[in-house]
This record gives sequence, C-alpha cells and structure tokens, in this order.
Amino acid sequence: MESAAIRAFAPGELTAAQIDELARLHCECLPDSLFSRVGLGATRCLYRMMARSSSEVFVLATDANSLPVGASVSSTAPDSLLRRLITGSAMSLWLALRFYRLPWSRLRDHQPAPFAPRPELMFLFMRPDSRNEGAGARLVRATEQAMRARAEKTLYVMTEDRPDNRALAFYRELGYQAVAKVRKFGVGFVLFGRPLG
Ligand SMILES: CC(C)(COP(=O)(O)OP(=O)(O)OC[C@H]1O[C@@H](n2cnc3c(N)ncnc32)[C@H](O)[C@@H]1OP(=O)(O)O)[C@@H](O)C(=O)NCCC(=O)NCCS
Repeated sequence: MESAAIRAFAPGELTAAQIDELARLHCECLPDSLFSRVGLGATRCLYRMMARSSSEVFVLATDANSLPVGASVSSTAPDSLLRRLITGSAMSLWLALRFYRLPWSRLRDHQPAPFAPRPELMFLFMRPDSRNEGAGARLVRATEQAMRARAEKTLYVMTEDRPDNRALAFYRELGYQAVAKVRKFGVGFVLFGRPLG
C-alpha cells in the first residue's frame, strides 16, 4: 500500500470535506475523548473552530483523494481551547442538547500539571487500516517541525497512564520524556515533553 502523504495545513486551508472526515476519524479513533462522547456534531464544531484558528496546527496524513487517514492536532494555546470553543462556536448548543452524555462525576476530578504545557500535541490518530506503517511517527515529527518554525522550544503531549496504553512506548521511542503526572476529568495521564532545539 502506498504510504500516506504528510504535511501541515495553514489556518483556513482545510476543505469542508477534510474537516468532516477529521471529526469522524476523531470519534472513531478516540472514543473516550470528551468530544467523541458528546457526539459527532459537537466534534465537527470543534474541528471547524480549530481549522480557522491560528493557535492550532494541523498536520494531516492524506490518501490519493486528499482525504485524511490520520492527523496530529496541536495547539500553542491549549488552555483556552474550551473557552474559545464555547464562546466562538455552536458548541454550547451541543452541550445543552447532549449534557446527559458528559461524565459529570469525573468533570471536577482534576490535578493540573505544575506548569502550563505549551505547545501541546492534543490529538493524534490514524485510521485503523493505515496503522503500523510509520505514519504516526511521521505525523509527530512533522508537528515538531511546524512548532520549530514557530520558534517553540518544547512540544508536550499527554497520554493515559495505564499499563496497556501502547502510546506510552510510542512517545518514549520518539524521544519524549515523562515530566509530570496529571489528572483530567477523572483520568490519570503522563505528561511528556521533548525539546525542539
Ligand atoms: C497512536 C497511533 C497514531 C500510531 O499510529 P501508527 O501509524 O500506527 O504509528 P507508527 O506506525 O509510526 O508506530 C507504530 C507504533 O504505534 C503504537 N501503537 C500501535 N497501535 C496503537 C494503538 N492502538 N494505540 C496506541 N498506540 C499504538 C505502538 O507503539 C506501535 O509500535 P508497536 O507495534 O511496536 O507497539 C495509532 O495507533 C492510533 O491512532 N491509535 C489510536 C489513537 C491513540 O491511541 N492516539 C494516541 C493517544 S495519545
């Protein structure tokens, strides 16, 4: 199988079809994410907002039709993402309609990182039939390159702190080092960082 093309997209460059497919892949590949739990409509809202923003960096792995088979979405302002989403999109409407899908008992269970990890690779996923061909690692490297071009010094990423999470080994192999343990919405995460120098 031909390997996916990988490149970063500028704000406003993603087409509506690419954004819709990214939201669909997000829900398929990251079913435990808060956005996937609220639903595909809310996740589309998130991706439409991020695709217009200059704070988020999209790196896509695309097929021969230029549709995404995977992506890395990172942010230079991850701490303001929810606020931007609620004030600048139809997300509040989705939350009102789907409030019963949110894990309310977990929402207050927080132990933040001892510093604000910025920039952060927030979402990384590959379509299941395109995995294990090296594209995931190339997405991370292309994200690092895009952040270097913005003069960022370190890239951070969080992944779930559980023994069966293969992403832990994935990031270690890419040179990421654990810098803190974090709890978000009742789930334990390892915060990794890698200097970009
Ligand atoms: C993580 C992911 C993007 C890697 O994409 P990929 O194209 O398969 O990555 P590569 O081919 O470059 O590297 C393969 C490595 O990815 C990791 N990996 C493979 N499947 C994985 C999975 N389901 N979940 C997490 N990591 C996985 C492993 O470290 C694997 O190496 P191994 O087979 O020796 O264990 C992809 O597996 C995925 O979309 N997983 C589901 C979503 C996810 O877990 N995202 C990361 C959350 S922080």
